[in-house]
Amino acid sequence: MSAVKKIAVLTSGGDSQGMNAAVRAVVRSALYRGLEVYGVQRGYQGLLNQDLRPMDLRSVGDIIQRGGTILQTARCKEFMTAEGQQRGADVLREHGIDGLVVIGGDGSYQGANKLSKLGIKTMGLPGTIDNDIPFTDFTIGFDTAVSIVVDAINKLRDTMTSHERSSVVEVMGRHCGDIALYAGLASGAEAIIVPEVPFDIKDISHRMKDNFQKGKRHGIVVVAEGVCSGEDVARNITEHSGIEPRVTVLGHIQRGGSPTHNDRILASQLADYAVQRLQEGDSGKGIGIMKGEFVATDIEKVVTTKKSFNLDLYNLALRLSQ
Ligand code: ADP
Ligand code: F6P
Repeated sequence: MSAVKKIAVLTSGGDSQGMNAAVRAVVRSALYRGLEVYGVQRGYQGLLNQDLRPMDLRSVGDIIQRGGTILQTARCKEFMTAEGQQRGADVLREHGIDGLVVIGGDGSYQGANKLSKLGIKTMGLPGTIDNDIPFTDFTIGFDTAVSIVVDAINKLRDTMTSHERSSVVEVMGRHCGDIALYAGLASGAEAIIVPEVPFDIKDISHRMKDNFQKGKRHGIVVVAEGVCSGEDVARNITEHSGIEPRVTVLGHIQRGGSPTHNDRILASQLADYAVQRLQEGDSGKGIGIMKGEFVATDIEKVVTTKKSFNLDLYNLALRLSQ
C-alpha cells in the first residue's frame, strides 16, 4: 500500500543546472511506482495560481541534458505569508494531491517546511548552485557551476600569463563560499575570499607581489560575491601593491548550460529516493547524500542549520598555491 497516490513537483527560487534531471526523475520514478504526478508551473506562485498539469513519461523527455527548468521558477512574496501558505496547502488538497516534492534552495525549503507543518507530505530536493544546504555533501547544480568557473579561469589564465597580469574573479555565493572554494582550488587560485573565513587584503596584495617576484607569471584571486565585489578587491590590491588586476564578474553564466554528469546523477538519485520515501509514508524531509549514503533530515532541522565550511580544503588550496 502506497502512503501517497497523487504527488506534485515544483521548482522554486534561483534555478540550477540539474533541476530538469530532478523533475524528470521525480515524474518517472512516481509513474514507475504507480503514482499520479503533477507539475506545478512557476514554483509557489504557480501553486497559488493553480497552474498545475498532469505529467506523463513523454512530458519529461529530452530534458535531462538541459539547463534551466521546464517547470519555470519564480519568487513568490504571497507565499511568505501565513495566508499564502494556507492557500497553497488548500490548492493541493483541492486537487487531491497528497505529496509534494520541492526542488530549490534555502528559501524554497522554508516554504516546504511551512507546507509540511500544514499537513502536506513534503520532500525537499537541494536545487541550487550555491551548495549552501546542510545535510547533503553537494546540491544539484553546484558541480556544473564550479566547472563553468574553472573553465573561465582556465581561459583567463592564458591571457594573464601572456601579459604577466593578475585577475580577480567574482563568483556567486551570497552566504556560502563553496563555489569560490572549489573553483579556486581546482584552478590553482592564489587567494580565495569567502564569507566563512576572515581575510587580510594587505596580506593578499603582498603575496601577489612576492609571487611575481618569485617568477609566477599570473595571479588569481577568486572572491565570493557575498564578501565584496571583485572591483573592491582589485582596488584594494592596487592600493597595497601597485598591481592592477583585471576584474571578471561571471554572474548568471554560472547558473546556465548543460548539467555535468555528476549533477544529472545526483538529481536522479535524490529525486528517486524522495519519491520512494513519500510512498513509504515519510514526509517533512530534506533529501541529501552524505559520504555515499542517502539521508532524509527533518526540513525544520535543515532550515535552522548552517552548512559547515570545509576549512581543510581552504587551507589545502592556500598551501598548494604558493
Ligand atoms: P532559493 O530557494 O533559491 O533560496 P528564495 O530565497 O528566493 O530562493 O526562495 C524562493 C521562494 O520560497 C520565495 O520566493 C518564497 O515564495 C519562498 N520562501 C522563501 N522563504 C520563505 C519563508 N520563510 N516562508 C515561506 N516561504 C518562503
Ligand atoms: O541561486 C543562488 C544565487 O545564484 C546566488 O548565488 C545569487 O546571489 C543569486 O542566486 C542571484 O539570483 P537572482 O539574480 O535570480 O536573484
